[in-house]
Amino acid sequence: MKLKSYFSWKNFLPNCITPQVPSSGLKVHPSKRSSSQRVSLSDISHCDSPLLLSDLSNSLVSLHVFTLKELQPITHFFSKSNFLGEGGFGSVYKGFIDDNLRPGLKAQSVAVKVLDLDGTQGHKEWLAEVIFLGQLKHPHLVNLIGYCYEDEQRLLVYEHMERGSLENQLFKRYGPPLPWLTRLKIAVGTAKGLTFLHEEEKPVIYRDFKTSNILLDLAYNAKVSDFGLATDGPGEEETYVTTCVMGTKGYAAPEYISTGHLTTMSDVFSFGVVLLELLTGRQSVDKTRPAREKNLVEWARPLLKNPHKLHLIMDPRLEGQYSTEGARKATALAYQSLSNYPKSRPTMRNVVKALQPLLDLTDIPIGPFVYIVPTQDNEVPVVQKIEERYAKQCNEVKIEKNDVEKQEKEEKSQIPCRKGRTHRRRVKHSRSRAIYSDTDLYKTLGSSLYTPKH
Ligand SMILES: Nc1ncnc2c1ncn2[C@@H]1O[C@H](COP(=O)(O)OP(=O)(O)O)[C@@H](O)[C@H]1O
Ligand SMILES: [Mg+2]
Repeated sequence: MKLKSYFSWKNFLPNCITPQVPSSGLKVHPSKRSSSQRVSLSDISHCDSPLLLSDLSNSLVSLHVFTLKELQPITHFFSKSNFLGEGGFGSVYKGFIDDNLRPGLKAQSVAVKVLDLDGTQGHKEWLAEVIFLGQLKHPHLVNLIGYCYEDEQRLLVYEHMERGSLENQLFKRYGPPLPWLTRLKIAVGTAKGLTFLHEEEKPVIYRDFKTSNILLDLAYNAKVSDFGLATDGPGEEETYVTTCVMGTKGYAAPEYISTGHLTTMSDVFSFGVVLLELLTGRQSVDKTRPAREKNLVEWARPLLKNPHKLHLIMDPRLEGQYSTEGARKATALAYQSLSNYPKSRPTMRNVVKALQPLLDLTDIPIGPFVYIVPTQDNEVPVVQKIEERYAKQCNEVKIEKNDVEKQEKEEKSQIPCRKGRTHRRRVKHSRSRAIYSDTDLYKTLGSSLYTPKH
């Protein structure tokens, strides 16, 4: 798959990021970059000369380059009926690729994200997605299949995720609430995705972790998507300071907002907010609530400290159907992740370690307020339905655990180890529902708040 020859690097510099490089200098010329290294946004911004096209096409071998003409018919010309959702970048449409489109590309449902040319985001965010998702493959990151780059047009083609965003599933007004074990499964899945990013040789800071950027497949396997704001973390001798803060209100870490210091711990804070949303069923910012409750973290923090206040924290829609021990441990973890001191937050690996065992806790009441409805001859009594629902929850979680473990084993054994290259996990993921999701990008800091490293 070749990149088009007019693909120029000159205007690709992510100008908000100011890496503070020590005077010894860490500039790596692209041609001296080892072939095992991932092409990173900072490689591009550090270098005076543009990266060689061949460098990029080697690293993004798995991506298909689509034409606009190919993507129009598969989405019914981006029709309303194919609309899946939207954010700061633009709208996302469902499409179907048949096996005649490209040799080697199997028939499948896809999601096509189209840059809104009048919107707040643009080429830089598109490029970040291509660069990161073109190289990073993991069961808990959405699979980018390809992209389209024509004149001003920028599109991205992903695997289709059947249940859409977590925002849609968690905060929908109608239908049954997400059960406890499903919420935990989602938290564990996304924590694994973030761990993978943070533990890359050159760590990746995701920077926009929130419910609308978490996608769910049919079995509620969670995948982190939307890498538009992702950035390479600082190396050992560097620290990053940004002159403009990007992210979403209600999720961004306090030190990042006030000083522009960006670390993997900023993602941990945002993870804490999402975990809190999963526990409480409340949105990170809810303007319809009384003043003291509008900001979820501010409202919840004093309650999280006190184990006796657990019932005030937990989503009333769960109707008590959760493991008390699990909920206590999860709220304690949320409290730690939401610390105002980045160093007091756990690493994402430790978050996974703390959350994963909670999936095995069985002290989940079937429901204290079950009213047994007298049934007709062929109807299933209510209690049985609830038991079935619980069994289904457990089953879904087990399936996911087995699937992911199996997938990971298969990947390890299947990926050929090319000389001088690190392994990249490559996984084919499975896959909508329309939802408006607001990528509320905001720029709160002027250059007056720029904090150089001393
Ligand atoms: N692969 C996908 N499958 C299903 N729905 C998707 C997919 N990608 C995005 N969506 C829907 O579109 C919304 C916006 O997508 P996102 O990638 O976050 O766009 P933006 O970069 O504009 O914020 C998501 O919240 C989700 O509802
Ligand atoms: Mg988004």
